[in-house]
Amino acid sequence: MSTSLTLIERLAREELVDMVPYQSARRLFAHGNANSNGASGDAEQTAHKVWLNANEAPGKGEYQVSSDNINRYPDFQPDNLLNAYSEYCGLERSQILATRGADEGIELIIRSFCRAYQDSILICPPTYGMYAISAENHGAGIVKVPLQNAGQGMQLNLDALASKVGKVKVVFLCSPGNPTGNLLSKKDIVAAIELFKDSAIVVVDEAYIEFSPEQTSIDLLAQYENVIVLRTLSKAFALAGLRCGFTLASKETITLLSKVIAPYPISAPVAAIASKALSTDLEEMAQRVQACNRLKATLSLWLSEQNWCSEVFASDANFILFRCMNLQEKTRIFDTLVEKNILIRDQSKQMQLENCLRISIGSEQEITQLKEVLS
Ligand SMILES: Cc1ncc(COP(=O)(O)O)c(C=O)c1O
Repeated sequence: MSTSLTLIERLAREELVDMVPYQSARRLFAHGNANSNGASGDAEQTAHKVWLNANEAPGKGEYQVSSDNINRYPDFQPDNLLNAYSEYCGLERSQILATRGADEGIELIIRSFCRAYQDSILICPPTYGMYAISAENHGAGIVKVPLQNAGQGMQLNLDALASKVGKVKVVFLCSPGNPTGNLLSKKDIVAAIELFKDSAIVVVDEAYIEFSPEQTSIDLLAQYENVIVLRTLSKAFALAGLRCGFTLASKETITLLSKVIAPYPISAPVAAIASKALSTDLEEMAQRVQACNRLKATLSLWLSEQNWCSEVFASDANFILFRCMNLQEKTRIFDTLVEKNILIRDQSKQMQLENCLRISIGSEQEITQLKEVLS
């Protein structure tokens, strides 16, 4: 920390002063930051960008909301929304907590199970950045057990996980993984849950599960009380702007998390739009997933044929991770796309992902545009 502190720096929790916040896709490229060097672009340019860096779905939805009760606080957990998600996922309402995105679920779990400056979470990098950021924000420790390349994509290292039993309170598994893209083996997920069954909560983050739904871990909730599953409407449901996610767990866990969450987390318009997406629009979601999976297969093949690409990771989600031959090629690919206002995500700072970039599967037109620029 610098030696001459401002009043706010002196009053703030010391560790937050130098902390780097989560570099979300939006934050990285908001207004000023148009390329990897931080050179600026204007607002008009920002509006015309092709956003392939946040694993959002392409295409806008059309929803209408009523403002009849907008003068009233919403229900803590709106009936229409909980009923719709209960119907969709097959769990009782008492096992579901609707949150402001899965991100709020991550934060709630850490705040509910980890005592600040005493307890730790466990993550398996390369993985989604918000687990570590939320832990840091709360003052929880972070234990890392890297994924290992086991032929079936990046998978859990069960021996290394076993050595951490008793040392952590919450274990975050991401399946399909972000940014890796592949599902974790269900057998390994079960083994990890067994390992920690008396000492830690195991969270299975299923933000991308709609792209490979048969592999869900939701059935494990009935067998193990230490399991939590995270879901979101930000990906396959094309509602990232709505901020709506779900934490699925035992009734007891949901009761606990409900003590920590804000009193009115879900606004009435959010509940109205989300419940429509989860009922009448389910077929549309299924078609979106199919289109994405088709496009993903063609992009994956195309990438594997490029001489600057040394590895294409298998993906069970709505994005593809690939490795460039070397640092120069990685920088060239990324910057060439930025120059043409096409934004993808640089993952090369993540453990084991040297020279790796990630492309979200946008619309067919966006992916064609990307290929043309790189050809
Ligand atoms: C693995 C994973 N979990 C959770 C989230 C957060 O989702 P939400 O938009 O619901 O907060 C993301 C978003 O990219 C993600 O990739």
